[in-house]
Amino acid sequence: MNTNRIAIFDTTLRDGEQSPGCSMYLEEKIEMARQLELLGVDVIEAGFPIASEGDFNSVRAVSAECTRATVAALARTVSDDIYRAADALKGSHRSRIHTFVATSDIHLEFKLKKSRSAVLEMTRQSVRTAKGLADEVEFSAEDATRSDVDYLCEVFAAAVDEGATILNVPDTVGYTLPTEYANLIRMVKQKVVGDRDVTISVHCHNDLGLAVANSLAAVEAGARQVECTINGIGERAGNASLEEVVMACSVRSDKMPFENGIDTTQLYPTSELLSSIISFGVQPNKAIVGRNAFAHEAGIHQHGVLSNPLCYEIMTPESVGVLKNDIVLGKHSGRHALSSRYEELGFSFAPDEIADIYSRFVELADKKKNIYEQDLIGIVQASQVPVLAA
Ligand code: KIV
Ligand code: ZN
Repeated sequence: MNTNRIAIFDTTLRDGEQSPGCSMYLEEKIEMARQLELLGVDVIEAGFPIASEGDFNSVRAVSAECTRATVAALARTVSDDIYRAADALKGSHRSRIHTFVATSDIHLEFKLKKSRSAVLEMTRQSVRTAKGLADEVEFSAEDATRSDVDYLCEVFAAAVDEGATILNVPDTVGYTLPTEYANLIRMVKQKVVGDRDVTISVHCHNDLGLAVANSLAAVEAGARQVECTINGIGERAGNASLEEVVMACSVRSDKMPFENGIDTTQLYPTSELLSSIISFGVQPNKAIVGRNAFAHEAGIHQHGVLSNPLCYEIMTPESVGVLKNDIVLGKHSGRHALSSRYEELGFSFAPDEIADIYSRFVELADKKKNIYEQDLIGIVQASQVPVLAA
């Protein structure tokens, strides 16, 4: 077992899909699953089979489609859910039942209306049932970060005794902070896992904008599976964004010496595919995949980039899969090519104004090997030229 390998568990098709504006048709889920395999995720959570016929069918179809990734199906800790998940996973080459129950007192009292001992027993029974029906069982303690730690560890220990090999510690409501979450992960590792072959997983929501930071802190503390979604889609403010987690580990491998199976050049194509399927794209300043992620608009930044791209570029667009087509122009391109490329991007200039834009472009193209779409936007923003609608 490689103790420095992080498994990437993608839940775009389950936690992502269940958020407003993100529903997908079956064919679209299959297309996403194919792309996620190409991206190199380890696990694809394809749905919650008991929730609807549509979810059942998508888990079944994704199971039939995937040849490399493990396919996971979500189930509450009730036997109907577990059997339905197992049924949907039948055609998969590697199956995982992901069963969950809340462990925080607030959820027990107001949502489940169950005692701690009842939830403990439900955990035991469901993991035991699931163990006989899938290749592996993951157990999640919903609202783990607001649960009593001793009780949380007791429930996790019961899940491991019954055969769960992945323990997920969700920050369901996006409440925790990086140091606090890291301490919780250390505690679970020490009190529950010890030297057993059990993977600690993290699943962070972004209500305070900390999902990625919390996930990374957890990895440093010993978690070895990160649950995340493409473009960070998910309930409310979303889930940890897969592309941000992966690129943080890649760019800062000096501090995060962990491996994963992701082909980073597939990040941008995957993000684009998802945006074309659901009803919204990413904001322009979204890290890694946003339209402006590699644009340098401030004059001082442009100056730095002109001197040496490393002044302001910590990663290249190519490393995340911004395609050659997006490398729009080079230093030999003429004014006409430049204007028409700007028109494609939705910008139009009066004839005399293109001269200023063009000279800025030539200056940049002279120093910087590749001019990206984002650079063109940066040039316009740095110039004072008024933009007409194209
Ligand atoms: O956020 C959460 O707690 C979940 C669980 C079902 C893992 O999505
Ligand atoms: Zn979630």
